[in-house]
Amino acid sequence: MKFQGIAGNFAEVNADALAVPVFKGESPSDGVLRELDQLSGGLISGLFKTEDFKGDSGQEALIRFEARGRGKASRLLLLGVGDEKDYKPQSVAAVSGAATRFFRKRNIKSFALLPRGSADAVETTQNAVQGAITSQFELDKYKTKDKLEKEVTSLIVCIDGAKTADLKRGIDRGEAIGESINFTRDLANEPPNILTPSEMARRAQAMAGEVGLKCEVLDEARMQKMGMGSLLSVSLGSEQPARLIVLRYTPAKGAAPKKGGDLLALVGKGITFDTGGISLKPGEGMDAMKYDMSGGATVLGTMRALALLRPSVPVLGVVAAVENMPDGKASRPSDVVTAMNGKTIEILNTDAEGRLILADAVAYAEQQGATRIVDMATLTGAVIVALGDINTGIMGNDQAFVDEIVECGREVGEGFWQLPVGPEYSKQIKSDIADIKNIGPRGKAGTIMGAVFIQEFVDKAKWAHLDIAGTAWSDGVKPHQAKGPTGVAVRSLIRLVEKSQ
Ligand code: BES
Ligand code: MN
Ligand code: ZN
Repeated sequence: MKFQGIAGNFAEVNADALAVPVFKGESPSDGVLRELDQLSGGLISGLFKTEDFKGDSGQEALIRFEARGRGKASRLLLLGVGDEKDYKPQSVAAVSGAATRFFRKRNIKSFALLPRGSADAVETTQNAVQGAITSQFELDKYKTKDKLEKEVTSLIVCIDGAKTADLKRGIDRGEAIGESINFTRDLANEPPNILTPSEMARRAQAMAGEVGLKCEVLDEARMQKMGMGSLLSVSLGSEQPARLIVLRYTPAKGAAPKKGGDLLALVGKGITFDTGGISLKPGEGMDAMKYDMSGGATVLGTMRALALLRPSVPVLGVVAAVENMPDGKASRPSDVVTAMNGKTIEILNTDAEGRLILADAVAYAEQQGATRIVDMATLTGAVIVALGDINTGIMGNDQAFVDEIVECGREVGEGFWQLPVGPEYSKQIKSDIADIKNIGPRGKAGTIMGAVFIQEFVDKAKWAHLDIAGTAWSDGVKPHQAKGPTGVAVRSLIRLVEKSQ
């Protein structure tokens, strides 16, 4: 997709169509709508009268008119966006995405968007571009027939009075972020026979080479030497060896991360397929467990974006890529393993495997100098019961750090909802025969049990845990987004890094 930003007249651009958000209660005789009403020979006011178009959120109306020598556009899409006071900078991404999908369905190849709103031009353009890119992602990669071949190929973002440099910067940023979100989504959508832990590592290496990140992949022998008995216990039943993928982003000027300096680490659960292991899951719905590597994919996509956006702070990315399978060599309920921080774990359910791999991955991140750690994982079914697919569950050991992430989410339009942790919960994972066990009491605070388990492997770092089991996959199509992997948290984490500068 090609992008262009212009500060000139919206109605005169060279595109097949125009798209404009309309606020609830706006009159066709006001401001920009008045100009468009004139351009279309009064069709907008007609639409408001006869079609009951009121600017309600989700309303869409396409108007065709005669291009009269000014621009070449002969169609105008009005997109209702509801109350003007609720129109946030991030709403531009959804509007742009909805317009892109609307036009794509009708085989309209290029359009100009008047994003409106009062945010600065860089952020507005960025959101418009990102929304258009993420809106065209589809699940049909492996179809050989009936694939959606239609594509919108060009978007012109029009912001009256904007500086050319701001428009350009917004486009660059929007492309970096949009394509990185799609990178995450593509990984999450890959079937597990193709995206094995080794393949995930190869994709990370290839991506790192393209964008200029350092990438190191630890094999099982290396992990064994480091004492990662918890992580390795999960891969015992699989023919596919585990991989620990380590990515390093270093800012241009500040050289290597200073000893004693702040280092943020993003740590992801990369279970390429979760059968449950010996604590086997029921067959029905097991196919969904290909997306159990979404946390890892989020780390990879976020690191990709950071490499392109080049913030001034270093970031460490760690992905534990492992397949959870039952087999004669698989770990069993009642096995005891030792993690790299020396803690012993009684495995009482091999299906609570995400926390087992994250235990060693977060300990590794801290050993590498991380002072702040965000881990992300499709960790528990319980978070879906609690929060559905609307909010990501967040827990942590430092309230200010949790608040900061929740606020980043608010700023980019991603919901996080905090659940508590604390000693009363932590004592519920004490084991009779080892230091801790990998599950808590049945049916009680399942999401929190996952978090307090991981917390045992954080020493001094500030830490937050994101349970994205409900938000990483969407079962329904939205006006601006296909069904399937969402790429949730990539934008919030980019924001977190950029605010830490
Ligand atoms: N990957 C699953 C969690 C999950 C379930 C994600 C459904 C998305 C949809 C995780 O490894 C798991 O199996 N968790 C168990 C934990 C339990 C055994 C304590 C769960 O949630 O049932
Ligand atoms: Mn599991
Ligand atoms: Zn899992």
